[in-house]
Order: sequence, then C-alpha cells, then structure tokens
Amino acid sequence: MADSQIKQVAVIGAGAMGRGIAQLMLQSGLSVALFDLNRDMLNDAQTTVFSMLDKLVAKGKLSEQIAADARHNLSLHSADDFSPCSRADLVVEAIVERLEVKQTLFTSLEAIVSENCILATNTSSLSVTGIASVCEHPERVAGLHFFNPVPIMKLVEVIGGQRTAPAVTDTLSKLVTSLGHVPVVVADMPGFLVNHAGRAYSTEALQLLLESVTTTREIDRILKAQAGFKMGPFELFDLTGLDVSHAVTESVFNQYYHEPRYRPSPLAAKRVEANLLGRKTKEGFYTYPRDTNDAVVRTDVPDTLPNSVWLDPSCQQWGEEFVATLHTLCDKAGVSVETADTPSSDALCLCAPLGKDTTTSATDAGLDATKVVAVDGLFGLSAHRVVMISPATSAEYRDYAHALLSHGGYPVSVLNDSPGFVSQRVLAAMVNLACEIAQQGIAQPADIDKAVTLGLGYPKGPLAWGNELGPQRVLTVLENLQQLTGDMRYRPSQYLRRRVALGMSLSDTGTRASQA
Ligand code: NAI
Repeated sequence: MADSQIKQVAVIGAGAMGRGIAQLMLQSGLSVALFDLNRDMLNDAQTTVFSMLDKLVAKGKLSEQIAADARHNLSLHSADDFSPCSRADLVVEAIVERLEVKQTLFTSLEAIVSENCILATNTSSLSVTGIASVCEHPERVAGLHFFNPVPIMKLVEVIGGQRTAPAVTDTLSKLVTSLGHVPVVVADMPGFLVNHAGRAYSTEALQLLLESVTTTREIDRILKAQAGFKMGPFELFDLTGLDVSHAVTESVFNQYYHEPRYRPSPLAAKRVEANLLGRKTKEGFYTYPRDTNDAVVRTDVPDTLPNSVWLDPSCQQWGEEFVATLHTLCDKAGVSVETADTPSSDALCLCAPLGKDTTTSATDAGLDATKVVAVDGLFGLSAHRVVMISPATSAEYRDYAHALLSHGGYPVSVLNDSPGFVSQRVLAAMVNLACEIAQQGIAQPADIDKAVTLGLGYPKGPLAWGNELGPQRVLTVLENLQQLTGDMRYRPSQYLRRRVALGMSLSDTGTRASQA
C-alpha cells in the first residue's frame, strides 16, 4: 500500500505507459483519474488494467479486495476538460513525445491544479527543464521516468530540472518506494541516466560492425558468452526497434553538442532508411520469427594443429592461470610450447594484448606477423574463446590457432583486427561512460550501478564491473584505443583517470570541495 502524501493522481495519456502507471498506482491504493484525447484509448486502457488486476488476483499476487478497490478508484476522462485535476496531488503526463505539445499541456494544467500539486513528466528524451520553462511554478515540475512495462520494470528515474524544488524530487522518490518500485534521483541531462549509460553497449557494437571486425551474430555471441549479457546488442536493437534506439542516440549526441562518445553510426541510419527495424518489421539484424539456426555454432572448425606454440610475454599480464591454461591446452593437443625468448621459424605466436590490435602486438614485438594470432584474456579461457588476426596473418596460422583454441570442444570466435577485441572495447566504453555520468554528477555511483542493472538488465553495474576488471586495465584499453584510432570517443573520463592514479575504487565518490 502506498504510504505517501500523494493520494489522488491524474495520469494524462492512456497509451502503453499511461495505463501501466495507472495500474501501478491503483494497485497501491491510490485513486487515478486517467485522461486521453481518444475515447477508444481510454476504454482500451481500462480493459487492460482490469485484466491485469484479474491476472494478479488469479496468481495470488493481489487480494480480491485490493483489486476491487483499484477498479473503483479508476475514473476515465476526456482530455478536453482537465477540471477533475483540481483534486490531484500529482499529475503524471505520458502523452506524445513532443516538446510543444507537452508544454501546452503543462500550461493548461497549471491553471487548474491546486497550489501543492506536483506536475511530473514521463518523457524519456525531452528536457524536463524545457517542459517546465513555460510554467509559472517550474519548481513543482519534475521528471518521473518509468520503464516499459511499468508494473514489471522496478526502476524509476526521478529527474530534477534546473528549477525543481528538492522537496518535489524527495516526495516523488518516497512515492516510488511506496509503490514497491526503486527510485534513483537523476539530474536533467540528455538521456538522464539509463538511456545515457546504455549508449556505450549499442554504439560500440555498431562501431565494431562498421570496422568489419566480425558479424552481428558473433558480436552478440561473444558478449553473451564471455561477458554474460542476457541479450547481445543486435538482439536488443531488434527488440527495441532500431528507429527508436537510433533516435535516442541522435538525441543524446545532439544535446551533448556532438560529443564523440555518443556518435551515432551511419550503419544504423541506413538500416532505418531501409525499414530494417527489428521484430516489428520482422526484419532487422535477424529475421523473425527467429531462425533457430541463428545461434548454431559453426561446425567447420579447422583441425590441423601447429607443430609448436610460442607465447608472447603479453600473455603473462592475464595471470598465471591464463598462461597455465594455454600450456595445458597445448599439452592435451600434443603441441609443444617453446621456451626460448624468440619463436622458432614455424611456431604459432600467441599474444594476448590489452586494447591493442594484433598488428601492433606483432610489430611492437618484432614478430613475423604472418604467424601471429591474438587471444583475448579479459574473461580467461574457461568459456567462449576469442582470437584475432592481423591482415598479414596467414590463413594457415589463423586455422592453427582456431584448431588449438577449440581443442576439447570449446567455442571459438575468430575476429579481424581490432584494438581490444570485442569485449574489451564494449566493456571499457561502458565503464568509461558510467564514470563520465558520475563525473558530471548526474547520479551517485551506487545509483548508477543500481539503475543500469535494473533498467538495462546488465549482469553487473558498470562501476562495480570496472572495479572487478581492474580500473587500470579499463584505462589502458581506452588509452590504447584512443592512440591507435585517433578517435576522441575513447578518451578516458577524468573520473576514471584520477581514481586509477590514486588507487581508488570507481564506486568511491571521493572527497568533495566544501561549498562556499
Ligand atoms: P503511446 O503512443 O502509447 O500513448 C500516448 C497516448 O497519449 C495516446 O493514447 C494518445 O492518444 C495520448 N495523447 C497524445 N496527445 C495527447 C494530449 N495532448 N492530451 C492527452 N492525451 C494525449 O505512447 P507511450 O509509449 O505510452 O509514451 C508516452 C510517453 O512516455 C512519451 O513521452 C514517451 O517518450 C514516454 N516513454 C515511453 C516509453 C516506452 O517504452 N513506450 C518508456 C518511457 C517513457
């Protein structure tokens, strides 16, 4: 049951979000006046809400009495007349995502609502400050950003605009908690927290594709098998709709005045033009219904092994276990491991770079690049194994490495050259963006991790994950990426650089200057 000073709520917009918000409030014992311009939407919303309540009762998750009260507490209204809002303690707007339309609505509402009524917007991309700018009392306007489907997605971003009174975000946070959801207080910056933090996974995956490092299927496979993501980035694009994801990226990029870290991909723009949007158009990065062969691992794995293997000193940076696993692998495959400082003329040279490509690893070490293959050590060798070749690596040595690493039935992905393979790049970009969100004071470090795990379903919060991988390693990947590509999108956040230099955790806010 909601236990907050808010009892009467008006929800404007009875679409996917408005009806979910209404259901959540009703379930918690609040009264909801639901408004829409379209009568059919209102009726449809009521049917949906009632049927959801019935399902919850059937599952034993809601009592008959609460469901009956909830039905009784819902009223439907045409958006021609907002006078019933005069009784509301809170109005939540969930109408079309257009600034002028939302501003017009907020101006009309201000003329009707009581002095203490809070006006909240569910916008996912517009400026809360911009919506509030037309209001006489912008201090009572805040963002209340629910995720879809509202009753299931526990996270709610509570967004304070430039003029929002702290008491308003405080009241809204308490309300969210009383609804059984999880509030995070976020500053009104482009993408807020979740859509901002989520840009790294999507843009870095598209960048890998743009550079022809490998296929969409392999990128998805690697990030799921190595890093433990539930969905690969391309599966996620197909679920969300590439038009929606690309528009969010463009919006964040433009609002940040073309900050390279958020640069959208021309590949996404082309695919949107072609209507390859994902599940909703039945064709995206995959086709739908999904071909069950999609996930099938290739069976044409080479089986010719090299005579001997020479391990480049870069393998040692991943620890004794990594090197020992390579030795065991060679032993089991009957391949000798050379112990000399330099490789024999026909040895397969394995290197394990951090943020460097195979080309740089081979040339820096003065090795014969035709015989060099890189192995990713970031997640060890216990699950999915990822190797990478330079343009000069011979097909014969590429296949030797593939055969050796897959010995014993391990799945192996073979990539074209990329500074940081797939996982190193995506993870480093993700941690860097989270560091930047912390640096900009958009949210507290603990809230960043909470919001990303709850809102995006990542296996770990990006700051905690950065700590686990090693902040120094993340920094090195970014520095090498920036140096090798010359692209400012990889420049490390000052938040990360300072914490590495000072040996601090990425979750540590640190001491702040005392305020004058
Ligand atoms: P929707 O298109 O499903 O529903 C919008 C509803 O608003 C429609 O029923 C429409 O008739 C009504 N409407 C439009 N203009 C109106 C007006 N001036 N007065 C009253 N009613 C009006 O849209 P959806 O998906 O529910 O999104 C609503 C808001 O929530 C948008 O701001 C969107 O960006 C945001 N949002 C959407 C999420 C999603 O996954 N769909 C997630 C988080 C936020």
